[in-house]
Amino acid sequence: MSVKLGVNIDHVATLRNARGGMEPEPVLAAAMAELGGADAITIHLREDRRHIRERDVMLIRGTSKLPLNLEMACADEIIDIAVKAKPNMCTLVPEKREELTTEGGLDAIANFNTLERTLKNLTDAGIEVSVFVDPDREQILHCSRAGAKYIELHTGSYANSALGHESSYWEEDKPYTPNGELTKLTLAAEYAQELGLIVNAGHGLNYQNTGEVARIKGMNELNIGHSIITRAVFVGLVQAVKDMKEVINRCSAAI
Ligand code: PXP
Repeated sequence: MSVKLGVNIDHVATLRNARGGMEPEPVLAAAMAELGGADAITIHLREDRRHIRERDVMLIRGTSKLPLNLEMACADEIIDIAVKAKPNMCTLVPEKREELTTEGGLDAIANFNTLERTLKNLTDAGIEVSVFVDPDREQILHCSRAGAKYIELHTGSYANSALGHESSYWEEDKPYTPNGELTKLTLAAEYAQELGLIVNAGHGLNYQNTGEVARIKGMNELNIGHSIITRAVFVGLVQAVKDMKEVINRCSAAI
């Protein structure tokens, strides 16, 4: 079975908020992503509301046929909104107000009690929960002990390490030379599956570096935002999603 694609449409809301008006409409972006073949819609309701707002969560939840994955911090206010909106999945992420984007995985060891409590609150509300975590055995083990069924491996270090690699837009078929970060992701995915966890991954994935992550055995879903929305500016969102699906299908079919 092919690896699924969750399309993160946060930056459609970033663009809307830049002018303080109504356009572009994130609800329409969810519909366009569906036309392009997305398997899920991902949105991050940040505490500072810099892109997605509560109104977007409710409207997308009420209109999109695709499963909705809500990224969120373990914060009471956001947990209350999630329980009301009932997305299909919540992905728990760390959040710092000053960061440009989610910079690291959630520290499941330092925040174990909060994590366990949040997992329970959301699971009791009938929501599947995933934890965004670095590809580190101890972190993954603590996610499992806290009651997670899913994890999302943070691919940021892999994506950064691959920057500058000779592979380019024109060589999408050419796999990256295995590097340390890719090995870390592969071993982390293997370990998580041994613990019975379902493995997703995301952050910094683009049309060049996604293939290698899609090839990782047992990978369930990739959550990708910035690169798809960036390409959409030039080719449209339907086409940008189709292009990413093609990269994923080609590579996951090769397993
Ligand atoms: N997964 C998680 C948990 C994230 O926080 C983000 C960024 O919002 C992504 C995936 C998508 O990252 P990118 O926009 O770099 O594709």
